[in-house]
Amino acid sequence: MSPKFVPFDLERWQSTWENRVRFNLSESGVHPLSVQELLGLAAASAVPLLEVRLGYAQSNGSDLLRERIAALYPGASPDQVLVTTGSSEANFVTCWRLLEPGDKVAVMMPNYLQTWGLAQNFGAQAKAFQLHEKEGWEPYAEEIRTAIAPGTKLVVVTNPHNPTGHVLGDAARKTILDRAAEVGAWILVDEVYQGAERGGKTTQSFWGRRRTACRASASAGSSQRPRSARRHGPGTTTRRSAHRARRITSPPWPWTRTCARNSSTAPAASCTRTFP
Ligand SMILES: Cc1ncc(COP(=O)(O)O)c(C=O)c1O
Repeated sequence: MSPKFVPFDLERWQSTWENRVRFNLSESGVHPLSVQELLGLAAASAVPLLEVRLGYAQSNGSDLLRERIAALYPGASPDQVLVTTGSSEANFVTCWRLLEPGDKVAVMMPNYLQTWGLAQNFGAQAKAFQLHEKEGWEPYAEEIRTAIAPGTKLVVVTNPHNPTGHVLGDAARKTILDRAAEVGAWILVDEVYQGAERGGKTTQSFWGRRRTACRASASAGSSQRPRSARRHGPGTTTRRSAHRARRITSPPWPWTRTCARNSSTAPAASCTRTFP
């Protein structure tokens, strides 16, 4: 018997209703701007937009875009960047690439539950480590260590966090990095809210903090895999709430092709980096 499909209830509910109701009280993103309003904010002309040819785009992101994204991450190169449509696509391809039936995944909770369901739908076992309200939404070191058990393949972190907006403290961050290194796990860090902090200080990316990192999406996520020498880069996406969408993904195409689960053409989505 095949395992029961774990739906992503939040997005299912939203996509069913959000374009059919008169008043949407559930949206958590910013109110969408028009192109004209955006150009106005940047005091930019619309002419270059009108000159864009509607042909096939470069599917991994244009060279210029990937160069600019890479420039945001010390030590990253455009070859390490994969541009995706939304951070959710980045999260998806990362899980698709990395997870096999029987793998173990540790996921920060509460969370945007996309990867929680994806992991199980790819046959992996998902284990949670909690953020605790009474600790200002910090996790306990011991719970992190228990969830990231030996043999864990992937650790999923969202930082800044949804739904609390909390940014992990240095100690928790270090515990996650150290424990992932210890067990040889990748870390997928969804940093989609980086740059949307209300405190004014931009959250430091996990990219570059240890041996390997992979970020996903609109602001980004990052994944780390300590023992790997492969390097991936940031990637970019669009996000409903208009945050930056960056993502560190897999290395150049030879590696990327190995990302396909059932198809030789599927894109890769995770990126790693080795640090000194
Ligand atoms: C933590 C997190 N990751 C990813 C997404 C999906 O982002 P996108 O719309 O860019 O696919 C969301 C959307 O709310 C989110 O909260």
